[in-house]
Amino acid sequence: MTDRSLLILPGDGIGPEVMAEVRKVIDWFGSAQGITFDVSEDLVGGAAYDAHGVPLTDATMAKAQEVDAVLLGAVGGPAYDDLDFSVKPERGLLRLRKEMDLYANLRPAQCFDALADFSSLKREVVSGLDIMILRELTSGVYFGEPRGIHTEGNERVGINTQRYTEGEIARAARSAFELARRRNNKVCSMEKANVMESGILWRDVVNEIHAAEYGDVELSHMYADNGAMQLVRAPKQFDVILTDNLFGDILSDCAAMLTGSLGMLPSASLGAPMANGRPKAMYEPVHGSAPDITGQGKANPIACILSFAMALRYSFDLGDEATRLERAVEGVLADGARTADLMGPEGGTPISTSEMGDAIVAKLAS
Ligand code: NAI
Ligand code: MG
Repeated sequence: MTDRSLLILPGDGIGPEVMAEVRKVIDWFGSAQGITFDVSEDLVGGAAYDAHGVPLTDATMAKAQEVDAVLLGAVGGPAYDDLDFSVKPERGLLRLRKEMDLYANLRPAQCFDALADFSSLKREVVSGLDIMILRELTSGVYFGEPRGIHTEGNERVGINTQRYTEGEIARAARSAFELARRRNNKVCSMEKANVMESGILWRDVVNEIHAAEYGDVELSHMYADNGAMQLVRAPKQFDVILTDNLFGDILSDCAAMLTGSLGMLPSASLGAPMANGRPKAMYEPVHGSAPDITGQGKANPIACILSFAMALRYSFDLGDEATRLERAVEGVLADGARTADLMGPEGGTPISTSEMGDAIVAKLAS
């Protein structure tokens, strides 16, 4: 037993394949560094449906609430496309996010120098890029009431409501300021206070929390549409970007693509602190189950491995170890190790999922 508990949910498709490589990293930290984790593993998504008829059992949900961190692979795939909505694999993921109340979604956009030419932007615009987008995940226009489609007179009307309470804005803002203190002490908050009342409240509450609790952090505000332009024009001006659910959905996808492949992108979703001070947390790659390459040894395990690095940093206070793991990834890329998704136009021979995992562990050890 250690005081670091981790629940691994490999899920479907390439989920188990990339998670096997994370296991190698976890084992290395244990055997080489004496940093051990109390790891349990369970089913989610289609795999859970096949075994239990539901995409997430109550027992797995209860376990997820108890552990320090959940690490999830991916869910879904063509075998489950025709299932009833209530038992679709994605429902397992949504239940985890909702019941753990994971309100702060962290999406880094980091440019590894060896992959800078992969970007659709010029090398000098993205080289060295390291920003973090914090997207509020549990409120806003995706959840606000009233919503729906109804008929008025002789035409249909579709309605969604952007709704934020002070409390929801305040907790997201605190997460962003805390994050900034661990990074470069700089937050840019994005909304559209020029045209939306929810944006005016967002800006006011962020300013209030800043003045009362985080005066040491540099704060700026930007309209989200300008933010989109700036992200593509000069992304290195940012460090932490704080934004709502809708703008965050779009801005984080935009920022992610500044740096290249889906197979490289990690994420974290954090909630309120637990009794031991650690936040409720789930870590997962941004990509899905990639049915087109499942079972072929082609999946890039880096997104999942970098998600574990985020767990080291944000759940276990092992920032140096997280950096060491990120450097190992950077190192193997600099050595030229490439899975198939990272092959450039100049070609070459890709390595397998398992060879990439082995290379990263070897680099950790070197
Ligand atoms: P996807 O992310 O699974 O795949 C998109 C493309 O990127 C595919 O060509 C795939 O081969 C490639 N790709 C993804 N991850 C990769 C990796 N690690 N290494 C190399 N190549 C990689 O998205 P898609 O195809 O839209 O969805 C497939 C299934 O995954 C669907 O059932 C979808 O519902 C589910 N999905 C699940 C998510 C999750 O579990 N969080 C997120 C997105 C989709
Ligand atoms: Mg999206």
